[in-house]
Amino acid sequence: MASFRRGFFPQDERMRRTEVLSTGYRVPDRVVTNDELAVVMDTSDEWIRQRSGIVERRWVESGEAGSDLGAAAAEMALDRAGLAARDLDCLIVATLSPDHFFPGTGVFLQRKLGIADIPCLDVRNQCSGFLYGLSVADAWIRVGQYERVLLVGAEVHSTGLHKNDEGRDTAVLFGDGAGAVVLGPIENGSGAAPDRGVLSVHIHADGTHAEKLWVEAPASAYDTLISHEHIDRGLTRPAMQGRDVFKHAVARMPEAVHEALAVHELSLDDIDMLIPHQANLRISQAVQRSLGLSDDRVYNNIQRYGNTTAASIPIALHECVEEGRLSEGDLLCLTAFGSGFTWGSALIRW
Ligand code: COA
Repeated sequence: MASFRRGFFPQDERMRRTEVLSTGYRVPDRVVTNDELAVVMDTSDEWIRQRSGIVERRWVESGEAGSDLGAAAAEMALDRAGLAARDLDCLIVATLSPDHFFPGTGVFLQRKLGIADIPCLDVRNQCSGFLYGLSVADAWIRVGQYERVLLVGAEVHSTGLHKNDEGRDTAVLFGDGAGAVVLGPIENGSGAAPDRGVLSVHIHADGTHAEKLWVEAPASAYDTLISHEHIDRGLTRPAMQGRDVFKHAVARMPEAVHEALAVHELSLDDIDMLIPHQANLRISQAVQRSLGLSDDRVYNNIQRYGNTTAASIPIALHECVEEGRLSEGDLLCLTAFGSGFTWGSALIRW
């Protein structure tokens, strides 16, 4: 191995690289405005916009699961890659809102795609889930274990949010949606790694902050998985120490971007497009300021979707591609931060 550094895949010039073959997305049709939320909880359009930048989000209709959104996003990505579901070797789904407690969403999504007998991995790393999934997919592709990997971020938050005054601090922030990418290798015939594709992925976690953004129950850690007492005490409600999350998010994401750039001896000037996890527009703006990037080099769409956690980066990536904001050879930087705490970054030469 040319160079091994703890925390990211060895940079071996002879090793093939991973590229994003295509993207896809699906958000529910139902648009929920801030004013609609203000009818059921003590909040206002002004408060939500000012604190988060969010104007509206999407919520599923009854009977629509995360695996449905994920399957639709996956079908779009497969279509754009000119591939059929049977061409996939492996499926990775990042979600913090699985369809069921077990089995994971991956197998439901697999079934909906009409394929069998490929491994389905569920990734449970919240807002950083897409980057964690990308790290695994990239390693599998680099070593030649799999050729075609589907990576999906899919979330249904709306059914778990407490749409009342007690839940207003989180209910206004999160939305439903799914994004997908099909990943594959760039064959390396020349002996030197091509200057394209996923350059590296960097992932981190610090469990000392686990309870700062979490849903405490259902919990196998307690005597009963779920009880009336859990519900009465509000343990099934997402609980967040918002200010602490904000403080860490605006520090960890820039750190992770610098980390990735340093590995490749690149600078902030080299970044053509930054897609930060869409946690909160104020967080993204603080990250942008800290990195000194101009508006045209940062992509945000949280205004329309709210925070879709693991789905936010692939949805934003899809829209970025659709809008023609990425050209061949551009350096794309992804960064995320979320519950756990978990965070990370990735550099992709488009
Ligand atoms: N509407 C109106 N008021 C609300 C509200 C809502 N939806 N949610 C909370 N409030 C109230 C609080 O109860 C508090 O009232 P009080 O002063 O009477 O106690 C007041 O607004 C201020 O709350 P506070 O939590 O101090 O606000 P803030 O300025 O820190 O902003 C967040 C709150 C959640 C917007 C902010 O902390 C944040 O963005 N954190 C990061 C959240 C995030 O991105 N999470 C996902 C990360 S992956």
